[in-house]
Amino acid sequence: MIEISKDTPIVILTGAGISQESGLATFRGEGGLWKGIRVEEVASPVAFENQPDVVHSFYNKRKEKLLAPSVQPNDAHFAIKRLQDEWPGGVTLVTQNVDDLHERGGSTDIIHMHGELLKGRCTNCADVFPWEGDMDVHSECPKCHSTGTVRVHVVWFGEMPLMMPEIEDALLKCGLFISIGTSGNVYPAAGFVQVVIQNPASQTVELNLEPSLNAHQFTHGIYGPATKIVPEFVDNLLSR
Ligand code: APR
Repeated sequence: MIEISKDTPIVILTGAGISQESGLATFRGEGGLWKGIRVEEVASPVAFENQPDVVHSFYNKRKEKLLAPSVQPNDAHFAIKRLQDEWPGGVTLVTQNVDDLHERGGSTDIIHMHGELLKGRCTNCADVFPWEGDMDVHSECPKCHSTGTVRVHVVWFGEMPLMMPEIEDALLKCGLFISIGTSGNVYPAAGFVQVVIQNPASQTVELNLEPSLNAHQFTHGIYGPATKIVPEFVDNLLSR
């Protein structure tokens, strides 16, 4: 099991698997969002240029699903909040997810490296703003009032993830890296474990339903549903 002192900084990376038991589809699993969809047709700057209505509709549907009353944070989200509150060494929470379930689970200082579904961004003035309703080609930027320039604040394929300098800094300083609910398909997130293991004293653990593509790079692997294994792992860390 993981042996670390309580003043060790922790970095947590989460992926779609942590939200699966809240009722949100993952991308590549059974019934995944990318099943039957060509990602470049709905999640790329070229798609937005050529067929903005298709892109808006794809994200409007995901927003509607996220805002359904049945979709609530789960015990894995709450366990991460507890670790953030109680771990003396500090916890940096990085998520690939664009849902707001970590926020609703009580977590703070969340780094959304792939953006946020419930926010919009203007391609004219670059302002970022809350936007929970549907978006379309007539949507008006609340700041510069231009239309046709409002897009979902989500990082598309071919775009740079957000906050990378802050993430890299945290990875280089951490003593424990915890990867939860991600398949290891998409970089740079899938490469974070390689940054951490440059420090031979660091430890890395993946908590996932099944081994990810880069499971072999972790010092530890714990497998099962996030709502079971994440609270158990956090309880174990805190009970030292
Ligand atoms: N508990 C734990 N893990 C789970 C659960 C669960 N209940 N359900 C699924 N998983 C695991 C799957 O085994 C899989 O390894 O979560 C992972 C989800 O993988 P993906 O669907 O590929 O999602 P993710 O890794 O977050 O994708 C990364 O790809 O498409 C882009 O921008 C998108 O942020 C996304 C990125």
